[in-house]
Amino acid sequence: MERPPFLWGAGTSAHQVEGNNWLNDWWAWEQAGKVKEPSGLAADQYNRFESDLDLAQSLGHNAHRFSIEWARIEPTPGFYSEEAIAHYGQMIDACRRRGLEPIVTLHHFTHPLWFAVQGGWTSPTCVDSFIRYVGMVSHRLGEKIRWWVTINEPTVLVFYGYLDGRWPPGEKSFSKATRAQENLIRAHQAAYAVIHAQAKQRGQDPPPRVGLAHHMRCYDPCRRWSLSDRLSVFFRDRMANRSVLKACRTRMDFIGLNYYTRDFIHGPGWNSMGFLGTPCENPQHHPEAGPRTGMGWEIYPEGLHRVLTSLKRWRKPILICENGIWTPDDNIRWDFIRRHVEQMVAAMKEGVEVAGYLYWSLIDNFEWADGFAPRFGLVEVDYATQARRIRPSAQQYARLIRKGEL
Ligand code: GAL
Repeated sequence: MERPPFLWGAGTSAHQVEGNNWLNDWWAWEQAGKVKEPSGLAADQYNRFESDLDLAQSLGHNAHRFSIEWARIEPTPGFYSEEAIAHYGQMIDACRRRGLEPIVTLHHFTHPLWFAVQGGWTSPTCVDSFIRYVGMVSHRLGEKIRWWVTINEPTVLVFYGYLDGRWPPGEKSFSKATRAQENLIRAHQAAYAVIHAQAKQRGQDPPPRVGLAHHMRCYDPCRRWSLSDRLSVFFRDRMANRSVLKACRTRMDFIGLNYYTRDFIHGPGWNSMGFLGTPCENPQHHPEAGPRTGMGWEIYPEGLHRVLTSLKRWRKPILICENGIWTPDDNIRWDFIRRHVEQMVAAMKEGVEVAGYLYWSLIDNFEWADGFAPRFGLVEVDYATQARRIRPSAQQYARLIRKGEL
């Protein structure tokens, strides 16, 4: 069988770029003044997707990741918007016309307001509600889709939404966090089954590939000599990196990997939650750390190699769904991409099966609690005029893709 082409591209998510997503929980959170600034019109991509996809095509991409906004598809429970279904159908067709393989995410941090009001991921009906939506999307659009990401970064959603409280629903409860994580895993597993059952029923051949996008970090001890730091690293790696994969391993056709950085961990001792330790900001504790991005994240390309090789044991293809940087200096962005791709290639030479690399993100967008200041895009957005400007790093990335030296 012919090997499918390596997927090169970039991603976005609905709420971060579409604009006017007033039916979801993030919108309500923003209106309640819980974040720096509201998403508003964002990058107006709901109306500008054709020209944004032209940009992706002009940059040599052959894949594009985006998400479907559940709140648009199902604004009230059990009522589906034909307009929204048609919109996402057009978006998929628009990708295909440009030779971009659509990588479709069903859930990227946001929920219909009614779902949040019903209790979000801790409600007893949450998995059923999610599956009803997934079933509808798969029924109406599934024959057009070969790559599905069910849920984006469940562990990040659980952390910010249920432990740290910075994101909706703003909970700070270990027991709610545990329940939410269990439900998100069940939701993924059930979505996997529904998408495959429907694809089989309509005789889709080859069958679609279904996975989730998992956020993984590298962890190293703050003080190499400290047993407590090393133990915290071990537990963190288990909890944050491995537990979700372990729970979902039989229901994943590929591993979607979102990799950004490494954390140095300080084990605070043997108190309550202490076994997970805390990320340590003191640079004196880890002099070998590289420079940091605008988000304060260490630039650590070797970590991508470490994470990729650690995933080899699951024997699944890996799709790098996100890897990106906010920096005011676009030279640093290109350097970031180049060095991460180098590490990816090195891992592939060691036998790791990587299906594609999707930079985060195609265009500048609304960075959740941090608002519009962080600019991750290959393409700059002037929010006053909605004008787009291709950054030099995007051209460099295009050259790399065209050379296709893997
Ligand atoms: C990921 C997330 C994206 C984007 C990115 C940069 O965790 O999936 O939505 O915000 O981080 O912070």
